[in-house]
Amino acid sequence: MKSTTTLSKFIIESERNFPTATGEFTSILNDVAIACKKLSDLVNMGALAGVLGSAESENVQGEQQKKLDIISNEVFIESIEWSGHFAGMASEEMQDVYAIPKEYPRGRYLITFDPLDGSSNIDVNVSVGTIFSILRCPDDVDQPTAEDFLRPGTEQVCGGYCLYGSSTMLVMTTGNGVNGFTLDRSIGEFILTDRDMKIPEDTREFAINMSNMRHWEAPMRRYIDELVAGKEGVRETDFNMRWIGSMVADVHRLLCRGGLFLYPMDAKLSAQGKEGRLRLLYEANPMSFIVEQAGGLASTGRQRIMEVEPHSLHQRVPVLMGSKNEIQRLVDYHQE
Ligand code: AHG
Ligand code: MN
Ligand code: MN
Repeated sequence: MKSTTTLSKFIIESERNFPTATGEFTSILNDVAIACKKLSDLVNMGALAGVLGSAESENVQGEQQKKLDIISNEVFIESIEWSGHFAGMASEEMQDVYAIPKEYPRGRYLITFDPLDGSSNIDVNVSVGTIFSILRCPDDVDQPTAEDFLRPGTEQVCGGYCLYGSSTMLVMTTGNGVNGFTLDRSIGEFILTDRDMKIPEDTREFAINMSNMRHWEAPMRRYIDELVAGKEGVRETDFNMRWIGSMVADVHRLLCRGGLFLYPMDAKLSAQGKEGRLRLLYEANPMSFIVEQAGGLASTGRQRIMEVEPHSLHQRVPVLMGSKNEIQRLVDYHQE
């Protein structure tokens, strides 16, 4: 019989390599996995569960909330708050830090998350996901405030996402490579299917929302112009384009077969007082951790994303990530 490695088995075996490990991480990731299974089920049921459509409300960032944005935020919190592992949480859907209710013990970790990424795709039955980032809580802090979450991505102890696609996959890193687990619905377990994922250094595929082209900065325009020029242009190669509109799904594709995921700074965003489109703490940082651990690069164009010093909980950043050689070229264009 072929032996399988469940997510729990994988984490327990990985922890054995660290004599000081307490097993706490196994428990944390199990809880996160349970939250993702619940969300996978809700997303999968769609209209049958009555979860589609607008919630007729806005989140802190002035974005229309879907019913499922709110429900998934609640499901995620409810699945992990009781465990005693977390001292506080922050989410895309909540303005302030979420304090752990008094009846539960306080733990040593902080978690930030985007409970439902790509939520504009829910109502049209296209892949969405969940993104999370785990930090250590400063030792002397019992009631973490936003300040305690404002730490560069290099301090993450775990970054991960769950993709609710044609199958449900949990992909994560603790700084020791990237591993992917597929949900086996028949036994309700995530099974290791993609060990030590690596992003090819070269690629001929990119993902960007081209409708923003006229607002981009010069280096970005130059780079995309050259790709679009194809065989007849300076790159002498045809490139292909894909844009799902769910960061999780677009990044998962580049993790599987190489590629670029680009949401650059543009004039429209800066006119709105925004520093980018995607959020640093619960979108850009965990995804950058994964991409770097898989051998890719993640940059704002001017700086490594994971080295950006955060100044606020819902801060945004430009995101250029994916296959190493192409991201390097794009960063070089920004420096010229
Ligand atoms: P969210 O649904 O969590 O707000 O995130 C949506 C993000 C990201 O997933 C996606 O890549 C991007 O927004 C799409 O933006 P555009 O609609 O501007 O293309
Ligand atoms: Mn998102
Ligand atoms: Mn979201």
